[in-house]
Amino acid sequence: MADSGASALPSSPSQNRARLISTCLAGGLIIGFMALIRLYLPAGGNDPLGLVARLRRRRKSSNRPVRVYMDGCFDMMHYGHCNALRQARALGDQLVVGIVSDDEIIANKGPPVTPLNERMIMVSGVKWVDEVILDAPYAITEDFMRKLFDEYKIDYIIHGDDPCVLPDGTDAYALAKKAGRYKQIKRTEGVSSTDVVGRMLLCVRERSKSDTHKNQNHSSLQRQFSHGHSQKFEDGGSGSGTRVSHFLPTSRRIVQFSNGKGPGPDARIIYIAGAFDLFHAGHVEILKLARELGDFLLVGIHTDQTVSASRGTHRPIMNLHERSLSVLACRYVDEVIIGAPWEVSKDMITTFNISLVVHGTISESSDFQKDEGNPYTVPISMGIFKVLESPLDIITTTIIRRIVANHDAYLKRNEKKAESERRYHSENQLAKIIEVRLHYVKATG
Ligand SMILES: *[C@@H]1O[C@H](CO)[C@@H](O)[C@H](O)[C@H]1NC(C)=O
Ligand SMILES: *[C@@H]1O[C@H](CO)[C@@H](O)[C@H](O)[C@H]1NC(C)=O
Repeated sequence: MADSGASALPSSPSQNRARLISTCLAGGLIIGFMALIRLYLPAGGNDPLGLVARLRRRRKSSNRPVRVYMDGCFDMMHYGHCNALRQARALGDQLVVGIVSDDEIIANKGPPVTPLNERMIMVSGVKWVDEVILDAPYAITEDFMRKLFDEYKIDYIIHGDDPCVLPDGTDAYALAKKAGRYKQIKRTEGVSSTDVVGRMLLCVRERSKSDTHKNQNHSSLQRQFSHGHSQKFEDGGSGSGTRVSHFLPTSRRIVQFSNGKGPGPDARIIYIAGAFDLFHAGHVEILKLARELGDFLLVGIHTDQTVSASRGTHRPIMNLHERSLSVLACRYVDEVIIGAPWEVSKDMITTFNISLVVHGTISESSDFQKDEGNPYTVPISMGIFKVLESPLDIITTTIIRRIVANHDAYLKRNEKKAESERRYHSENQLAKIIEVRLHYVKATG
C-alpha cells in the first residue's frame, strides 16, 4: 500500500513515515472492527451484510493463495469429472476436493460402485487436485459450509451449472451465493456416468447373448440409459463392436489436459503401454510406481482396434480419445502417445529415448510373459524391460463386473419397492413412480 502511494506521488521520508503510521492505524482499526463484528455474529449464524466475506476478500488481495472447493461422489470417475476439476482449479490457486463417504452415498442413492479408498486414489491422482476431504456430506449443509470457510480456509465453493436443490426444495448453495463465495463451471459436454454405465451394460449383454437379435436389445438399453440425449451409435471401427459415444475430441481439450512440457536434457524416460480402459485406481497406482523409476513417464495408449483384437470386439468401452484424456489427467503422467503400437519397437525406443519399459503384474492378458507374440521382445533383448508388482488387484473386467452387479441389485431393489407399492397404487401410477426413480438414479448416477 505504502509502495504504490510512494510511486504515484513522490514525497519526503517523514511524510512517508506519517502516511505509513496512519495506514497501519487504519488497518488495525479495520481488523479490530471486523473482530468485533465476528464476535457479535452468533456462531453458525448468517453473514447478511457479507462483512466477514468482504474481510476475507480483502485478505486475499495479499499473497495468500485463493482456495477453491468442489465436491462429488466421483463414483465411476471419468474424464468429465477430471474436466470439472480442471475448471474448478482454474478459478483459484489451490483446489480442495470433498469426496462423499460410502455411507452417505448408500443413504442417498444406493451403494456406490467404487469404494471410498479407490475413489480417493482416483481423485488424488488428478493433477489439478491439491487436497482431499474424505467426509463430505451428500448435500452441502450450512454447518459444513462454515467448516469449509473457517477450518479449511476455502474462498469459493464451485459447482456445475446444473441446479442443486436440497430435499426441502431450497438451493443448496444459497448461503455461499449470498456471501459472494460461489462460482459456477460448465458441465462437460458429451459424457456422463450414465452413458458410461449404459455402454458397459451394452457390452456385457452383447457378449452374454448370441449375436442374433442384438439390435433390438441395443435399442431398448439405449432408451433406458440415454434418456434426454439425442444419441447416435458409433461403430467402434472393429466391425461388430458397437458402442455409444458422443464424445467429440478437440485439439483444445487435449492441450488443456496436457502438461505441455517435454523431458529435460538428461531425463530418464520410462515407458508403459496399455488400453487404460475405464481408467481406475489400479491404473493410477501402477503409473505412480512407474513414474518413480525415472524423471519422465511416457504412456502408450493402444488404438481401439488393437484393444479389440486382444480383448474382444466388445472392448474398449471408452474410445481412444476418452482413454487418452483420462490418462493425461493423471498427475504421474508426463506425456501420452495417442494410439501406440502393440509392439515396442527399436525405432520407438530410439525416437523417444526410452530408458526403461515397464508392465504391471496384474493385467487383462499375460502377453508380456509369452514367448511368441510378446510385444516386449525388443526391450527384453536390450535388457531394459521390467515387470512391476501391481499395487492393486483391479482390472477393467473387475470394474465392469461391479457395475453390472450394482445395476442388477438396483433393479432388484426397485422391483421390491414396486411390489410393496403395488398395494397402494393403480398400475398407471406405479409406472410413473418407477419412471421417476429411474430418472433420479440416472440423473445422479
Ligand atoms: C433382450 O434382452 C432381454 C433381457 O435383457 C431378453 O429377455 C429378450 O429376449 C431380448 N430380446 C431380444 C429380441 O433378443
Ligand atoms: C537419453 O536419455 C539419457 C538418460 O537415460 C540421457 O542421459 C540422454 O541425454 C538422452 N539423450 C537425448 C538425446 O536426449
